[in-house]
Amino acid sequence: MLAPGIGRPKLEGQCALSQIIPVAPFDCVVFGGTGDLATRKLLPALWHRDADGQIPAEARIVAVSRKNFDDAAYRKFVEENLRPQLTADEKPLWARFLARLRHVTLDAEGEQGWPALADALKGGDAYVRVVYLATSPKFFGPIARRLVKQGLVTPLTRLVVEKPIGSDLASARRINDEIGAVIEESAIYRIDHYLGKETVQNLIALRFANSMFEPLWSSQWIDHVQITVAETVGLESRADYYDGSGALRDMVQNHLVQLLCLVAMEPPRAFAADAVRDEKLKVLRALSPVAPGSVVRGQYVAGAIAGTAVRSYADDLGKGRTSRTETFVAIKTEIANWRWAGVPFYLRTGKRLASKNSEIVIAFKPVPHSLFGEGVKLEANRLVVRLQPDEGITLRLMTKEPGPGGMRLRAAPLDLSFAEEFSVRFPEAYERLLMDVVRGNQTLFMRRDEVEAAWSWIDPLVREWERGSEAPKSYVAGSWGPAAATALIERDGRTWHEELA
Ligand code: BG6
Repeated sequence: MLAPGIGRPKLEGQCALSQIIPVAPFDCVVFGGTGDLATRKLLPALWHRDADGQIPAEARIVAVSRKNFDDAAYRKFVEENLRPQLTADEKPLWARFLARLRHVTLDAEGEQGWPALADALKGGDAYVRVVYLATSPKFFGPIARRLVKQGLVTPLTRLVVEKPIGSDLASARRINDEIGAVIEESAIYRIDHYLGKETVQNLIALRFANSMFEPLWSSQWIDHVQITVAETVGLESRADYYDGSGALRDMVQNHLVQLLCLVAMEPPRAFAADAVRDEKLKVLRALSPVAPGSVVRGQYVAGAIAGTAVRSYADDLGKGRTSRTETFVAIKTEIANWRWAGVPFYLRTGKRLASKNSEIVIAFKPVPHSLFGEGVKLEANRLVVRLQPDEGITLRLMTKEPGPGGMRLRAAPLDLSFAEEFSVRFPEAYERLLMDVVRGNQTLFMRRDEVEAAWSWIDPLVREWERGSEAPKSYVAGSWGPAAATALIERDGRTWHEELA
């Protein structure tokens, strides 16, 4: 078997940024180890870190679930799920990864399995122990209490909890109280995988490692901001969860709001956990309440995406169910502080939209006076931060068309495609975040007060909807959402970015 530190071959021309910094030995316990999140995101993320040679020899992954698997059966289960994705270069590294896996059958609310879990864990107080709760939030408190009761929480134990942390402020507080009663805040890692996306971190670099943007980063020069997270997927296998949640709680309360915070926050003192989180919190607390006319809810009806017919939301739910859950939401909000007063932030997310496309658009103000006469249309500059696909940053500038014949102007992109600039494999968000947990770095994780402040902003919107009888507006799958979302921005004399492109 291969030694640790040996990883897949580097790509030609790979740059120094792709250097791998090994982490300390650790045990990673995954509750929900046979679930969707573990098999789709966590295990592939750990596998890639291992394949890159970042994970030390001693590190082990202990999956916990109710399934009656022994280690061999679990390894077979993982093999079936992951092996088809491997490239030829990676296959020699696979046996090393499989050998790290263990499985413990355990009932999170009962007594069974806890001694076996204790046996499976290595090391004493000096050994890093990551406990990932990839379970329903209703188990977060009970599992945390049991871990403590069983003596499994060591000084270097880090508890990772997935969203959703609650479904409103009261339930989020309850969950935070339950976990906080037994585990220190400094050991709790509330994950929002959007913060682990490469371009999201690049947004921080763009703002704070360059001098040219920050002087322009305010209501004086910025006309408005758009944040779009568009998906083509529908319910997948999560109908029950999603129907009880909807786009506002599933995406806006966490991912979109976190992106907004990174765009709008003041420069933190350092790129360090509390410095960054303090600044994000100030933004959250300055968010203006959303006026009833500044939000649009939608639900998809049957349509087609890239030529393939897709069903309506009701048909995806099945069993003749109907629902008022929104699969699309667009919101106009503002940040009531010195820097941003008067600058609208338009947020938009939805399932079954025309394409998978997540981006942040900083729309600058137009020039104050045109030298070029009335016939020449000048497009205001836009800085577009593309999260996915094709990660990169584009600045749209006005340029002169080449050749004689006077000043013919048009907008052209100044384009930084990360894939072209850096020939590296782009790590998945979970890869970066899991290694941050092992290192004990909470910078890209949400603090309790942030999560609760986000719910405080969302709650009145949800209550308003629940009080009313209005159904979400229909939109055809494969479109960009309901017409009312276009109207939301157009009535301000502005346009969604993709309609310009
Ligand atoms: C999850 C949501 O947090 O993020 C899903 O629960 C959504 O509904 C997913 O599909 C989107 O993540 P990504 O990384 O594919 O943009």
